[in-house]
Amino acid sequence: MSKRDNIWYPYTQMHDYTKYLKRRIIRSGSDFYLYDDEGNKYLDGISNMWCNVWGFNSNRITNAMINQIKHIPHSTLFGIGNDKSIELSNEFLKLAKGLNKVFFTDNGSSAIEAALKIALQYWRNQGNLRKTSFLSIADGYHGDTIGAMSVGYVDNYFKSYKRLLFKCHVIPSPKMVTLNGIVNPEKLNLLLESTEKIIVKNADKAAALIMESGAQLAGGVNIYPPGYQNRIREMCKKNNVLFILDEIATGFGRLGNMIEYVAQESIPDIACFGKAITGGYFPLALTLTSKKIFKEFSGTLGDQKHLFHGHTYAGHPIGCTAVIENLRMYKENNLLDKIRSNSKILSKRLQEFQSIPIVQNIRAKGLLAGFDLVKNGKSIINVDNIPMSYFVLRESLKRGVLLRSLGATMIVIPPLAIDPHSLNKVMDTQLEIVLDINKRRVG
Ligand SMILES: Cc1ncc(COP(=O)(O)O)c(C=O)c1O
Repeated sequence: MSKRDNIWYPYTQMHDYTKYLKRRIIRSGSDFYLYDDEGNKYLDGISNMWCNVWGFNSNRITNAMINQIKHIPHSTLFGIGNDKSIELSNEFLKLAKGLNKVFFTDNGSSAIEAALKIALQYWRNQGNLRKTSFLSIADGYHGDTIGAMSVGYVDNYFKSYKRLLFKCHVIPSPKMVTLNGIVNPEKLNLLLESTEKIIVKNADKAAALIMESGAQLAGGVNIYPPGYQNRIREMCKKNNVLFILDEIATGFGRLGNMIEYVAQESIPDIACFGKAITGGYFPLALTLTSKKIFKEFSGTLGDQKHLFHGHTYAGHPIGCTAVIENLRMYKENNLLDKIRSNSKILSKRLQEFQSIPIVQNIRAKGLLAGFDLVKNGKSIINVDNIPMSYFVLRESLKRGVLLRSLGATMIVIPPLAIDPHSLNKVMDTQLEIVLDINKRRVG
């Protein structure tokens, strides 16, 4: 045992990890590269768990944060405001059409917990005690706190905690968009019909329906067909069910739009943001609500209608400063245009994978893509008896790139401001690894 072995990594079987992978310890970062303690460098091909925007030496965000810490390192929102959270909310609400209030948390899962509690209490505050359950979507992922696991239940991950979770009414996942973007309208109509039936059947007891905005990410990169999200919003509205959108992984440019629900013309009652909003420089997340929702929390202290939720670091001024500077950089660097032009490179490069026998269902939008590795009709779980995700990690690191697969689904999710040369390097490495898997013994 070395001192390095005292750490417990998230979602990781530490026994296998040390069996198959050498522990690499990151010490620094520059551009889009991570540097380990032995001087090796790795291109960040997974945007540091999907939050890296500018790479690791965006001095503008760093300097703004350093400057802020000199003013005040933290100032709580419990009973008093701070200037940076006000500035952030004003800037953010300019983008988040239709929403009017900003609630602060420090990670995506917590933003979801806040959204669920707000939805539940919204009805209770009106005296409706029936609406206490949630509608969710199969293969959705919203984080791993109790509420987030309940509405984004993934059996493979969360079965040990099932007793703690609440049951949801689950609508089907729209797994039908492919690289060419063609959707079978009949299939979509059937899916929407069955979805509507579930919503109608449970509307009386459902406080809200929650889904990721634009695409499901951790559940296998399922991109929604055009118009789908708005249809779900309409169904919720018609049936008096609140509509919650999770933009934590898909908003802020990942799918080529700043706010995905604005692009999809599907304004929700509540929306959650996280990950890329600070450029990946600080843990901060937001839950936004409409006026209609906020109004129901108004009353006297004795009414007990206010929201009983809030964490120590809510509205952290350093995190808020990072968001404010990050937003300026998005604008000044025309980041969305760059994402859209890189998205074309990505789509073109993905065509090279189409003829590989084990590759199926390539799908992409913005700077996100996924495809499945399948042999003899079965998802590939092991490569040379090594679990797929470890194999991909090991082989990519060997080639100087950090990649992770979602089980048998390969995911392309580079930093949002990546340059075309580095994007091509990510794709070259993906291609090499997939061609290698194609030749090996798989199960
Ligand atoms: C769509 C979505 N929602 C919520 C979360 C949870 O965010 P966090 O890991 O910051 O708790 C994630 C994390 O991957 C996510 O992809």
